[in-house]
Amino acid sequence: MDLDAFRELLTPRGQEALEAAAEIVGDDPVAAVTRLRKSYDAALTSAALTQAGLRRRAAGKFGSDAPLMYFTPHGLEQATRREVADHRARRFTAGSRVADVCCGIGGDLIALARAGCVVEAVEADPLTAAIARANADALGLGERVSVRTATAATVEAASFDVLFADPARRSARGRTFDPMSYSPPWPEVLEMAGRAPAACLKVAPGIPHELVPGGAEAEWVSYRGEVKEAVIWCGALAGTAGRRATMLPSGATLTPDPALGPAGHGPVGRYVHEPDGAAIRAHLVAEVAAAIGGRLLDPRIAYITTDTPARTPWASRYEVHEVLPFSLKRLRAALRERGVGEVTLKKRGSAVDVERLRKDLRLSGGHSAVVILTRIGEKPFALICTPF
Ligand SMILES: C[S@@+](CC[C@H](N)C(=O)[O-])C[C@H]1O[C@@H](n2cnc3c(N)ncnc32)[C@H](O)[C@@H]1O
Repeated sequence: MDLDAFRELLTPRGQEALEAAAEIVGDDPVAAVTRLRKSYDAALTSAALTQAGLRRRAAGKFGSDAPLMYFTPHGLEQATRREVADHRARRFTAGSRVADVCCGIGGDLIALARAGCVVEAVEADPLTAAIARANADALGLGERVSVRTATAATVEAASFDVLFADPARRSARGRTFDPMSYSPPWPEVLEMAGRAPAACLKVAPGIPHELVPGGAEAEWVSYRGEVKEAVIWCGALAGTAGRRATMLPSGATLTPDPALGPAGHGPVGRYVHEPDGAAIRAHLVAEVAAAIGGRLLDPRIAYITTDTPARTPWASRYEVHEVLPFSLKRLRAALRERGVGEVTLKKRGSAVDVERLRKDLRLSGGHSAVVILTRIGEKPFALICTPF
């Protein structure tokens, strides 16, 4: 979809086409095109069907907003999920003037405007900028939002209360995990953040801790057990914790306990606990272990073990039935003996190719199990468990 096709979609005729497309978009694609082509030209038919399909796909991320919004495939993929954007926006003071310096289709600017901020956004891509504008209007937030097609470098960060940046982690060659290859690149983002009284910077969860600037607070956020992002809070928005892990949708949050040393380690107990990825990324495994009186299986690997069925929302818990030095033959024999036909394979600190192992196990049987593949000391182990 180009900018002209998108503009046509916003006209009364375009809206009518979009409504018609929404009713038939799941049907046979050829039949859907044939039906719409009776009333609309090829460009509008294609734009309406594409948009209706994207709205459907967006429901998981944007819930009840999705049927009112507009997307590009990349814009949707890069946009922040509504619950995560809302969580971040809660730290902003209503009435703040916020510069969103690479706004995409507007996932974050919508949350910030809803939280009462006045958002001036820029976006380098003209179609994406037009979509962000249309999304703010469609959700009744147009009065608090302005969007310009421009690069981040044109924004005078010092004249805002907060700089918000969610740099693109996707280049023409695909996804990038290297902050130096973000667009704008990480040093440029930090330089802009340093000129604003406060900043909120969204980055990939794998950001090395040493790239977090001094005095900032880094928050790792998971949603339903999957780590989604790290947020670097700077200046007036930085808390004093330094590091933080937050789980959504519960909103439970964990910060370092300065009185705590590194977690101890020891033999496999009756239970193994796998910490939430946000706690692992935030280097807060010792805090999770302390909460359940646990020890690590290995000092370098984030599996915690306990002898009692202690519980924390910060970890998934498994009961251990058997501990085997890892070998395909032994594991297969042990699982067969237990009648395990369905296995969930988890690994940490293990070089085993999980998909290959699943095939090689050739299991059949009516029971299910979780197999944890890990290393204790230098030796590989398999722990046969069930969720508890
Ligand atoms: C990760 S997306 C933003 C997603 C947005 N926060 C949301 O939730 O929808 C990053 C956006 O930055 C834009 N971009 C990349 N480099 C830019 C630059 N130098 N200036 C402004 N925008 C830029 C890309 O076109 C892309 O749409």
